[in-house]
Order: sequence, then C-alpha cells, then structure tokens
Amino acid sequence: MNITGKVESRQVSENSEIIVVTSKKDIEEKFRQCLKNHELPDYLLYTGARGTKNWMELDRAETFPVARQLKTLLERNLESIMRFIPTGMSFVSVGVGDGEKEKIVLEALVRKNLAENPTSGKVSISYYPIDINGEFVDLALEKVENLPVGKKGIVGFIEDMATLKKNWRLPVLFCILGNTFCNYEPEFILQLVRENLEQEDLFFFDANLLPTEDQEVRAARKSILGAYSSRENALFNMYPLLQYGMVPEDFDFELSLANVKSRIGGVYRTRKNLYILKDTELAIGAETISFRKGDVIRMGFTYKYTYDQITAFLDICGFDILKAFLSEDRTNAIILAKKRM
Ligand SMILES: C[S@@+](CC[C@H](N)C(=O)[O-])C[C@H]1O[C@@H](n2cnc3c(N)ncnc32)[C@H](O)[C@@H]1O
Repeated sequence: MNITGKVESRQVSENSEIIVVTSKKDIEEKFRQCLKNHELPDYLLYTGARGTKNWMELDRAETFPVARQLKTLLERNLESIMRFIPTGMSFVSVGVGDGEKEKIVLEALVRKNLAENPTSGKVSISYYPIDINGEFVDLALEKVENLPVGKKGIVGFIEDMATLKKNWRLPVLFCILGNTFCNYEPEFILQLVRENLEQEDLFFFDANLLPTEDQEVRAARKSILGAYSSRENALFNMYPLLQYGMVPEDFDFELSLANVKSRIGGVYRTRKNLYILKDTELAIGAETISFRKGDVIRMGFTYKYTYDQITAFLDICGFDILKAFLSEDRTNAIILAKKRM
C-alpha cells in the first residue's frame, strides 16, 4: 500500500474520478527494493516509463496471442455471459490494462440494464477500473467516456483488495481478465478474493489453459514455450533493466516450464530468471544498485492449468462455478463463480 498512508483523488470529468492508493513514487521504491533483493516481480514490467506501451505492443505481437485469444472467447460468449449477471451490479476489474475487454462487457451490461428498464432511460451501474499503472486506468476510463455509468478509477494493488473495496458500491461483478489470474499463487488469489467478496458478488476471470490429452499437452507446452520465450516477450521482461542503461548482451533471459507440487497434485508453472553476465551498476534515483557477473534475478511466473485443475482449486477454496465458457480446443476458459456460503 501507499508508503505515506495518504490516498489522493482527482476528478477526471463530471462523472469520473481517480483514486490513487499506490503512487508512482511507491512503485519506484518497490522497484529499488526488489532489485536489491535480486527480484523483479511481474507488476514492475507493466509500470515504469514505458510499461503501458510495452504491454500494448506485446499484446499486439503475433507471437504472443494469450490475452487476444481470451478477448475473442469473451466476444463469442458475451450474450450468454450476460444472462448470468443480474442488472444493477457494479463492475470492478483489477489489472484492467487498456480496458478493451471491460468496454465490451460494460456496453453489454448497459444494453441489458436499459432493456430491463426501458422507461427510465437510466442505468444504475458503477464501473471501477483498477490497475497498478495509473496510465492504464486513464485509458480504461477514456474508452467508456460516453457510457451513461458512474466511473471511479483506482490505482492500486489487488493485494490491497480490502482497501480498494471501500470505494465500490455493492454488489459487484469482480473481474480479473487477460490471464492475470494465472500470475498468482492459486490459493493466495482465491483466498484474497473470497475474503473480500460479499454474498451477492460474482467472480469473473479467464485463463489460458493446458488441454488434457497427453499428446496435446506436449504440443501445448511447445507453443507456450514458443510464446513466452519469443523475442517480443523476452524484451518485455528485460525492459525494466534496459531502461536503466543495461544492454541485452549484459544478461540472459531464461524461461522454462516446471511441474510444481500443489494441494491438488502437480501443476505446470513457468519459471523466469535473468542471469547477469557482467558486473553492472544501475543508478536508480539517488541510489546505486550493483550486480556481479553470475547474479540471478528471479522473476514472476504464469501457471498453466488444465480446466479440471482450475475447477479443483475453485472447489477447495470455497467457490461454486455458475457457468464456464471453454474454447473448442479447451485452451482458453472464462469462468463465472460465486463464493460458497
Ligand atoms: C496481463 S495484463 C492484462 C491486461 C488486461 N486485463 C487484458 O486483458 O489485456 C496484466 C495487468 O495487470 C496489472 N497488474 C499487474 N499486477 C498487478 C497487481 N498486483 N495489482 C493490480 N494490477 C496489476 C498490469 O499493470 C496489467 O495492466
């Protein structure tokens, strides 16, 4: 959370404002601390001077179709998804990015609300786009400027969900889209969401999956390693160091897929490291951080579940699935779930 403990807010337009729970300064400080500990968690890839542009470029890259495939699945199933979402719910999306998927959902929610209350001409929806990068929150709000809903953007970490939720009007459709769910330890994220959702709230998330058949798993592993080891993804992962003057020859980016133990059995998870090849000093603000040749910087990860593994985690963490939407090849899923009472 915010180092100073202060929460800033600013009015963006007549019906939209932004609350800053975590400031740019807080993120810079985290960046320094993490690098000192030889860590580079994934959220730092989306922040910094070029975080916004880098993610949007990666999302467009042919070699990295992960979030785009999930958008297609969302578009294909939109009308069916809407049938499960009661009118009048607020719409919260964490890790909103540029808010493209949220715009699609919000437009459908507005249509549904208007269709059910045709005489009033009004919709009672509040939209809360949330991201750790404030530029994404701005972009997400701009995208829906003309929609007749209340809008409150929030800059903050999902880990601070207990603080974030003080800002939203219940009940909520709580979303984590773009495969972001798979960037967290499954039981951590599910417990966090469960603790902070109320009885009437819904949980909506998507994931890029491993199919179940052995043969297909081999092919999928190859394509996952292809996407995540692509030049575009490697540069995306290296950028935080490149922006402080390192060059690609100063380190190696390594990505592998490991089978790790969990309460529901073995699950696949990517492992990413940056290997420093040359003694280097980085000037970050007033501080200098030194790396020695041979140092290893540990990075974030992405879980690659099968559909059955996701449903098993939801079950042990106290969620019931209301409806799941799977792509024909079972490599992408969107899930609407509810906390079990
Ligand atoms: C993989 S991108 C997905 C973006 C978008 N939802 C999409 O589908 O294209 C992950 C997003 O989550 C944000 N993010 C990463 N870690 C976060 C955290 N701990 N709390 C809040 N947002 C986070 C990033 O800034 C980025 O916008």
